[in-house]
Amino acid sequence: MEEYGYDLEKTYFDVPRLKIITHNAYLTAGVGYPFHPHRDTWYCAPQSQVNWWLPVYEFESESAMAFHPRYWNEPVHNSSSNFNYYEYNSTGRKNAAQYIKSDTRNQPRPQDIIEIDPHLRLVCEVGGAILFSGAQMHSTVPNTSGRTRFSIDFRTIHLDDVLAQRGAPNLDAAPTGTALRDFMRATDFSRLPEEVVALYEDMPPLEGDVIFQPPAALIAS
Ligand SMILES: [Fe+2]
Repeated sequence: MEEYGYDLEKTYFDVPRLKIITHNAYLTAGVGYPFHPHRDTWYCAPQSQVNWWLPVYEFESESAMAFHPRYWNEPVHNSSSNFNYYEYNSTGRKNAAQYIKSDTRNQPRPQDIIEIDPHLRLVCEVGGAILFSGAQMHSTVPNTSGRTRFSIDFRTIHLDDVLAQRGAPNLDAAPTGTALRDFMRATDFSRLPEEVVALYEDMPPLEGDVIFQPPAALIAS
Protein backbone atom coordinates (compact mmCIF):
# COMPACT_ATOMS: atom_id res chain seq x y z
CA MET A 1 0.00 0.00 0.00
CA GLU A 2 2.91 2.29 0.73
CA GLU A 3 4.35 1.58 -2.74
CA TYR A 4 1.08 2.73 -4.24
CA GLY A 5 1.28 6.03 -2.36
CA TYR A 6 -1.32 5.24 0.25
CA ASP A 7 -1.15 7.20 3.52
CA LEU A 8 -0.83 4.33 5.98
CA GLU A 9 -1.97 6.47 8.92
CA LYS A 10 -5.32 6.96 7.21
CA THR A 11 -5.62 3.71 5.30
CA TYR A 12 -7.61 0.85 6.76
CA PHE A 13 -7.64 -2.60 5.20
CA ASP A 14 -9.41 -5.90 5.81
CA VAL A 15 -7.68 -9.27 6.20
CA PRO A 16 -6.24 -10.44 2.87
CA ARG A 17 -7.77 -13.71 1.69
CA LEU A 18 -6.55 -16.39 -0.67
CA LYS A 19 -9.08 -17.25 -3.39
CA ILE A 20 -8.97 -20.37 -5.48
CA ILE A 21 -10.77 -20.84 -8.77
CA THR A 22 -10.28 -24.34 -10.09
CA HIS A 23 -10.14 -25.25 -13.76
CA ASN A 24 -13.30 -26.61 -15.36
CA ALA A 25 -15.54 -26.05 -12.33
CA TYR A 26 -14.03 -28.78 -10.12
CA LEU A 27 -15.00 -26.83 -6.98
CA THR A 28 -17.69 -24.21 -7.46
CA ALA A 29 -19.11 -23.80 -3.97
CA GLY A 30 -17.95 -22.47 -0.62
CA VAL A 31 -14.32 -21.35 -0.69
CA GLY A 32 -14.14 -22.01 -4.47
CA TYR A 33 -17.32 -20.09 -5.28
CA PRO A 34 -17.04 -18.25 -8.62
CA PHE A 35 -18.78 -14.97 -7.96
CA HIS A 36 -21.76 -14.04 -10.10
CA PRO A 37 -21.87 -10.39 -11.27
CA HIS A 38 -22.11 -8.18 -8.19
CA ARG A 39 -21.01 -4.99 -6.56
CA ASP A 40 -19.31 -5.32 -3.16
CA THR A 41 -21.61 -2.50 -1.99
CA TRP A 42 -24.48 -5.03 -2.19
CA TYR A 43 -22.53 -6.88 0.56
CA CYS A 44 -22.34 -3.82 2.89
CA ALA A 45 -19.04 -2.42 1.62
CA PRO A 46 -18.74 1.35 2.06
CA GLN A 47 -19.17 3.29 -1.21
CA SER A 48 -15.55 4.50 -1.05
CA GLN A 49 -14.06 1.00 -0.82
CA VAL A 50 -11.17 0.11 -3.12
CA ASN A 51 -10.70 -3.58 -3.91
CA TRP A 52 -7.19 -4.95 -4.40
CA TRP A 53 -6.63 -8.13 -6.38
CA LEU A 54 -3.21 -9.77 -6.68
CA PRO A 55 -2.30 -12.90 -8.62
CA VAL A 56 -0.11 -15.46 -6.84
CA TYR A 57 0.99 -17.09 -10.11
CA GLU A 58 0.77 -16.06 -13.74
CA PHE A 59 -2.76 -16.14 -15.06
CA GLU A 60 -4.55 -15.39 -18.31
CA SER A 61 -7.86 -13.97 -19.44
CA GLU A 62 -9.42 -17.48 -19.25
CA SER A 63 -8.99 -17.39 -15.47
CA ALA A 64 -9.36 -13.68 -14.79
CA MET A 65 -12.01 -11.45 -13.34
CA ALA A 66 -14.49 -9.66 -15.54
CA PHE A 67 -15.66 -6.09 -15.18
CA HIS A 68 -18.97 -4.83 -16.51
CA PRO A 69 -18.40 -1.05 -16.63
CA ARG A 70 -21.70 -0.10 -18.28
CA TYR A 71 -23.32 -0.73 -14.91
CA TRP A 72 -21.24 1.99 -13.27
CA ASN A 73 -24.01 4.40 -14.32
CA GLU A 74 -26.83 1.93 -14.58
CA PRO A 75 -28.76 0.51 -11.62
CA VAL A 76 -29.68 -3.17 -11.55
CA HIS A 77 -32.53 -4.73 -9.61
CA ASN A 78 -30.95 -6.97 -7.00
CA SER A 79 -31.66 -8.81 -3.77
CA SER A 80 -29.29 -6.82 -1.53
CA SER A 81 -32.20 -5.57 0.60
CA ASN A 82 -32.49 -9.13 1.97
CA PHE A 83 -28.84 -9.13 2.99
CA ASN A 84 -27.66 -8.36 6.52
CA TYR A 85 -23.94 -8.28 7.15
CA TYR A 86 -24.01 -9.56 10.73
CA GLU A 87 -26.19 -12.50 9.81
CA TYR A 88 -23.86 -13.32 6.91
CA ASN A 89 -20.82 -13.29 9.22
CA SER A 90 -22.41 -15.64 11.72
CA THR A 91 -23.81 -18.13 9.19
CA GLY A 92 -22.94 -18.21 5.50
CA ARG A 93 -19.42 -16.89 5.67
CA LYS A 94 -18.35 -18.98 8.65
CA ASN A 95 -19.59 -22.17 7.02
CA ALA A 96 -18.06 -21.50 3.59
CA ALA A 97 -15.80 -24.56 3.71
CA GLN A 98 -18.82 -26.84 4.19
CA TYR A 99 -20.22 -26.01 0.75
CA ILE A 100 -18.75 -28.43 -1.73
CA LYS A 101 -21.40 -29.39 -4.29
CA SER A 102 -23.74 -26.45 -4.18
CA ASP A 103 -23.82 -23.07 -2.54
CA THR A 104 -27.09 -22.13 -0.93
CA ARG A 105 -25.82 -19.16 1.06
CA ASN A 106 -27.99 -16.08 0.92
CA GLN A 107 -26.01 -13.74 -1.28
CA PRO A 108 -27.16 -10.59 -3.04
CA ARG A 109 -27.79 -11.32 -6.70
CA PRO A 110 -28.91 -9.39 -9.75
CA GLN A 111 -32.60 -9.81 -10.45
CA ASP A 112 -32.29 -8.36 -13.95
CA ILE A 113 -30.44 -10.19 -16.69
CA ILE A 114 -26.91 -8.79 -16.70
CA GLU A 115 -25.45 -8.21 -20.14
CA ILE A 116 -22.12 -9.93 -19.72
CA ASP A 117 -20.81 -8.67 -23.07
CA PRO A 118 -18.97 -6.52 -23.69
CA HIS A 119 -16.86 -7.03 -20.59
CA LEU A 120 -13.33 -6.20 -19.62
CA ARG A 121 -10.73 -8.67 -18.33
CA LEU A 122 -7.56 -7.24 -16.86
CA VAL A 123 -4.43 -9.36 -16.72
CA CYS A 124 -1.35 -8.31 -14.79
CA GLU A 125 1.96 -9.88 -13.90
CA VAL A 126 2.81 -11.54 -10.62
CA GLY A 127 3.77 -8.71 -8.31
CA GLY A 128 1.20 -6.42 -9.89
CA ALA A 129 -2.21 -5.56 -8.54
CA ILE A 130 -5.61 -4.69 -9.92
CA LEU A 131 -7.38 -1.94 -8.00
CA PHE A 132 -11.03 -1.14 -8.54
CA SER A 133 -13.98 0.46 -6.83
CA GLY A 134 -16.11 -1.86 -4.72
CA ALA A 135 -19.12 -0.34 -6.51
CA GLN A 136 -17.91 -1.58 -9.89
CA MET A 137 -19.90 -4.54 -11.28
CA HIS A 138 -17.55 -7.51 -11.46
CA SER A 139 -17.62 -11.29 -11.69
CA THR A 140 -15.38 -14.33 -11.88
CA VAL A 141 -14.71 -15.75 -15.33
CA PRO A 142 -15.34 -19.54 -15.48
CA ASN A 143 -11.81 -20.91 -15.44
CA THR A 144 -11.01 -22.73 -18.68
CA SER A 145 -7.27 -22.08 -18.55
CA GLY A 146 -6.29 -25.62 -17.58
CA ARG A 147 -4.79 -24.41 -14.29
CA THR A 148 -6.16 -23.48 -10.92
CA ARG A 149 -6.04 -19.74 -10.32
CA PHE A 150 -4.78 -18.51 -6.95
CA SER A 151 -5.25 -14.89 -6.01
CA ILE A 152 -5.17 -12.74 -2.91
CA ASP A 153 -7.66 -9.99 -2.35
CA PHE A 154 -8.33 -7.38 0.27
CA ARG A 155 -10.02 -4.01 0.47
CA THR A 156 -8.99 -0.57 1.62
CA ILE A 157 -10.73 2.57 2.75
CA HIS A 158 -9.36 6.03 3.49
CA LEU A 159 -10.44 7.57 6.78
CA ASP A 160 -11.18 10.98 5.23
CA ASP A 161 -13.52 9.41 2.64
CA VAL A 162 -15.32 7.50 5.37
CA LEU A 163 -15.71 10.60 7.57
CA ALA A 164 -16.91 12.74 4.67
CA GLN A 165 -19.20 9.90 3.53
CA ARG A 166 -17.65 10.23 0.08
CA GLY A 167 -17.56 7.51 -2.49
CA ALA A 168 -19.06 6.12 -5.67
CA PRO A 169 -22.73 6.98 -6.16
CA ASN A 170 -25.04 4.38 -4.70
CA LEU A 171 -27.31 3.34 -7.54
CA ASP A 172 -28.87 0.17 -6.23
CA ALA A 173 -27.35 -1.21 -3.01
CA ALA A 174 -29.75 -1.60 -0.07
CA PRO A 175 -28.30 -4.11 2.40
CA THR A 176 -28.37 -3.60 6.18
CA GLY A 177 -25.34 -3.46 8.44
CA THR A 178 -21.85 -2.36 7.53
CA ALA A 179 -18.54 -4.08 6.84
CA LEU A 180 -16.59 -1.16 8.34
CA ARG A 181 -15.70 -3.04 11.52
CA ASP A 182 -13.61 -5.48 9.44
CA PHE A 183 -11.07 -2.79 8.59
CA MET A 184 -7.81 -2.21 10.48
CA ARG A 185 -5.43 0.72 10.29
CA ALA A 186 -2.33 -0.12 8.27
CA THR A 187 0.07 1.26 10.90
CA ASP A 188 -1.17 -0.48 14.04
CA PHE A 189 -4.13 -2.73 13.10
CA SER A 190 -6.49 -0.63 15.24
CA ARG A 191 -10.17 -0.67 14.27
CA LEU A 192 -12.21 2.36 13.28
CA PRO A 193 -13.71 4.20 16.26
CA GLU A 194 -17.32 3.14 16.88
CA GLU A 195 -18.53 6.73 16.39
CA VAL A 196 -17.18 6.58 12.84
CA VAL A 197 -18.83 3.22 12.20
CA ALA A 198 -22.06 4.68 13.59
CA LEU A 199 -22.24 7.05 10.60
CA TYR A 200 -22.92 3.95 8.47
CA GLU A 201 -24.95 1.92 10.91
CA ASP A 202 -28.43 1.89 9.45
CA MET A 203 -29.48 -0.90 11.74
CA PRO A 204 -27.76 -1.79 15.01
CA PRO A 205 -26.49 -5.37 15.17
CA LEU A 206 -29.20 -7.42 16.84
CA GLU A 207 -27.68 -10.81 16.43
CA GLY A 208 -24.82 -12.32 14.51
CA ASP A 209 -21.17 -11.35 14.48
CA VAL A 210 -20.25 -7.74 13.81
CA ILE A 211 -16.79 -8.82 12.68
CA PHE A 212 -16.07 -11.92 10.66
CA GLN A 213 -14.44 -14.50 12.96
CA PRO A 214 -13.05 -17.48 11.07
CA PRO A 215 -13.89 -20.77 12.79
CA ALA A 216 -11.01 -22.26 14.80
CA ALA A 217 -10.64 -25.17 12.36
CA LEU A 218 -9.96 -22.75 9.50
CA ILE A 219 -7.33 -20.84 11.48
CA ALA A 220 -5.58 -24.09 12.34
CA SER A 221 -5.49 -25.42 8.77
FE1 LIG B 1 -16.45 -8.72 -5.20
